[in-house]
Amino acid sequence: MSTDAIVLLKNDHKEILKTFKDFEKAGENAHAAKGKLVDRMIELLTVHTYIENEVMYPRVRELLPEVEDDVLESYEEHHVADVLVIELSAMKPDSERFTAKTTVLIENVRHHIEEEEQEWFPKVREGLGRKTLQELGADMIEAKKKAPTRPSQPSALKKTVDAVIS
Ligand SMILES: [Fe+2]
Ligand SMILES: [Fe+2]
Repeated sequence: MSTDAIVLLKNDHKEILKTFKDFEKAGENAHAAKGKLVDRMIELLTVHTYIENEVMYPRVRELLPEVEDDVLESYEEHHVADVLVIELSAMKPDSERFTAKTTVLIENVRHHIEEEEQEWFPKVREGLGRKTLQELGADMIEAKKKAPTRPSQPSALKKTVDAVIS
């Protein structure tokens, strides 16, 4: 099995984008179904953000200083998504703002995923090469095992605090 970091991250993206589509297809008043989809989104995003923040971004930043600006922008985009995820995780699906907030989250994350896949990943693949990407991927698989699945878990909250104070 390939442990190529970019392949793994793209697989995560696919799964995340699928929940977005399903949410958009759900009916206006399908509160229970939409609530479940948002729970799933939150879990997928929390785990994915964790492995990118813990492994991918810091390692790439260290190995490829020329993509520093992309990494910094990514941290900020993640931070915006984190705030929305935290708010959504405390919100009832039949609340007036639930669909609107989810829609804004979806728009933000779609944009971020597009930038990663179209602009950032190609630079990283070229700069790091196959072997390093496989090592990074193996580290991400390890990190996934201890990743938080809810934004309220301490290891998930830490990054939010970091984004504000560092
Ligand atoms: Fe990201
Ligand atoms: Fe990503």
